[in-house]
Amino acid sequence: MTLDELIHDCWVRLARAVRDRRHSWRLPVLATVDGQGAPAARTVVLREAMREGAVLGCHTDRRSPKIEEIRADPRVAWTFYDPGSKLQVRARGRATVHLVADEDPIALERWAETSLPSRRCYLAPHVPGTACDVPSPNLPDALESRNPDAAESEAGRANFAVLRTRVERFDVLALHAAGHERAAFEFDEAGQVVRSTWLEP
Ligand SMILES: Cc1cc2nc3c(=O)[nH]c(=O)nc-3n(C[C@H](O)[C@H](O)[C@H](O)COP(=O)(O)O)c2cc1C
Repeated sequence: MTLDELIHDCWVRLARAVRDRRHSWRLPVLATVDGQGAPAARTVVLREAMREGAVLGCHTDRRSPKIEEIRADPRVAWTFYDPGSKLQVRARGRATVHLVADEDPIALERWAETSLPSRRCYLAPHVPGTACDVPSPNLPDALESRNPDAAESEAGRANFAVLRTRVERFDVLALHAAGHERAAFEFDEAGQVVRSTWLEP
């Protein structure tokens, strides 16, 4: 495989992972830098992967700590691993926050495409991460055992946020019994690959 073929393959797989619930790359780890300069990593659902512009995106509650972390320091890292293809991608870049509450067109579009079961996550009455005395689903009582209908789901608009990352670098590792392969790709602000090289694994 050439470097061009490898980067093409990565974007095809990422786009597939957005659509395919069973794809291992659908659940990457997203790392931010917290207020003390320490790393903070968590699993998210990959919601956007666009080769044009080199963009990765996920959705979150605007009240979650990572929103402030990203506003203070937009540097983020994503890690994807698929045991089937034995392919790891580590992406580095800068994130932006897009809120429905600000009528941001990116957030409005993503909210419109968000299913009712997914919208349920944004109806949490308490700020995510707040301490509680007993285990709590952080859902309105009426929605503990069912999804909201369309009208009920609209209350989640105010909490819905899109986190978009403009990727600056991919580090790709392909595991093979015959010898691993590793490569790095750097992207410019328009998402074009400006440098690529094989790396020693
Ligand atoms: C399978 C899985 C998928 C998740 N997807 C998301 C997601 O898309 N967005 C999100 O904000 N949190 C998601 N979470 C929860 C995060 O991992 C994390 O617990 C939460 O966002 C709080 O992180 P924070 O306190 O660093 O903001 C997911 C967790 C799991 C286990």
